Amino acid sequence: MEEQRGWNDILKNAPDNEPDRQRYFMIKCRELIERRKREIGRDLTFYDQTFGCQMNFKDSEKLNGILEEIGYVKADSEEADFVYYNTCTVRENANIRVYGRLGTLKTFKKKNPEMIIAMCGCMMQEPEEVEKVRNTFRFVDVVFGTHNIYKLAELLYRALYTRERVFDIWEKAEEIIEDLPSDRKISFKAGVNIMFGCDNFCSYCIVPYVRGRERSRRPEDIVAEVKKLAAEGVKEIMLLGQNVNSYGKKFQEPISFAQLLRMVEKVDGIERIRFMTSHPKDLSDELIQVMAESGKICRHLHLPVQSGSDRILKKMNRHYTKDQYLTLVEKLRKAVPDLSLTTDIIVGFPGETEEDIQETIDVVRKARYDSAFTFIYSKRSGTPAARMEENNPDEVIHERFDRVLQEVNRVAREQNQKMQGETGYVLVESIDEKDETMVTGRLSNNNVVHFKGDTSLIGQIVPVVLEEAKGFYYIGRLKDA
Ligand code: SAH
Ligand code: SF4
Ligand code: F3S
Repeated sequence: MEEQRGWNDILKNAPDNEPDRQRYFMIKCRELIERRKREIGRDLTFYDQTFGCQMNFKDSEKLNGILEEIGYVKADSEEADFVYYNTCTVRENANIRVYGRLGTLKTFKKKNPEMIIAMCGCMMQEPEEVEKVRNTFRFVDVVFGTHNIYKLAELLYRALYTRERVFDIWEKAEEIIEDLPSDRKISFKAGVNIMFGCDNFCSYCIVPYVRGRERSRRPEDIVAEVKKLAAEGVKEIMLLGQNVNSYGKKFQEPISFAQLLRMVEKVDGIERIRFMTSHPKDLSDELIQVMAESGKICRHLHLPVQSGSDRILKKMNRHYTKDQYLTLVEKLRKAVPDLSLTTDIIVGFPGETEEDIQETIDVVRKARYDSAFTFIYSKRSGTPAARMEENNPDEVIHERFDRVLQEVNRVAREQNQKMQGETGYVLVESIDEKDETMVTGRLSNNNVVHFKGDTSLIGQIVPVVLEEAKGFYYIGRLKDA
């Protein structure tokens, strides 16, 4: 085919090394987009639909950065010229939601046949899902996975140029590509990847299969990115990884997560540092000490417990017991008294008994979580837990789930009264959704606060008297106002 021959010539001229190769394709895309813009007399638009965790949202910022670089303009609906779905597959209902929405795109494409539809993210690392998209959702033009998002410009150019469907999914990741564009939604807050993938293989979890082996970014690259963000006015950063506590362990000269935090903390302009997620088995005394000493690390730790039963924890392959977890919590509370602790809990793991659930409820009471995400176990094919025997009817699981949730809410409501009457520092994020004479922001411990204020406060960290605890948030008053 003519297009294919032309495409091969283009490939011949493309540099082999990254990120130069992608820079080359960004220029190529830009030429096509510019030409198309002139033809139709308007901007070309893009829209993303992102599901799942912070990792996926961060990936979407990178994808959007590339799209803006090549001349697309962000649209405010899916009726756009380029739409991509960045998918999650951690639980079954994540998949159902994606396919549910995908149908609406087909009608938009009928109206605008030049529209390009892409799918990427964790679901696309599963061969059976890719086959489903290939055969059932034939209006999807571009499919890629979690390991090659940096190649968007190349894949998109190929789709635009050849008008063929492009599928490119890698089983595993290669090197980490630095220095590509990224677009941030909020000017004063940013996520920073410090590592990719996961090696823990918790028996219920699909993430290690779809995100690949654990790889840490070099500390100097991380610090350079944080410095750049600070120069752009970012005040709060969130260091991202599936298990940040094992950061840097695989380097030839290993460095610990605590050491990385000390380096990041030195960057002027950054006032708050958060991180996600911590695995209890790797949380070191050194980290607790750095948190206790730091003026920048936020007073919040997300420490997923998953279950309170030693028997279930073992079957989950979590490598800690209930006692070890609670001892860790005690140490943390002693070293960082104003710490807010949050967690993830799974209810309905195969073979779970009433006794096991009692243990989980007991952990909720003893750890005194400020909030918790509670999930019903979802069987993910290919994981070890999928082969374990289930024995509980859905009604039993739902009834247990409700009981755990009730306890979580009861404890959280109590915890969220703690600071009533005190003054806290709030990073103001936006105008209040319900009352435009008020603003909304977060305390260092991640609690939400609403108080009287205007847009001039957005992006600032200000002292607020926390006058009234309202269950899961505070109503406050700007100090000295
Ligand atoms: N790396 C993070 C969590 C990533 S997934 C960690 O280890 O903490 C986020 C949460 O989804 C997990 O903490 C777990 O509670 C939940 N989860 C993962 N797989 C699940 C499954 N198969 N069914 C239900 N919940 C699951
Ligand atoms: Fe999944 Fe466990 Fe890895 Fe978290 S640590 S991503 S739960 S395998
Ligand atoms: Fe989902 Fe992938 Fe995150 S499966 S939870 S988007 S790593």
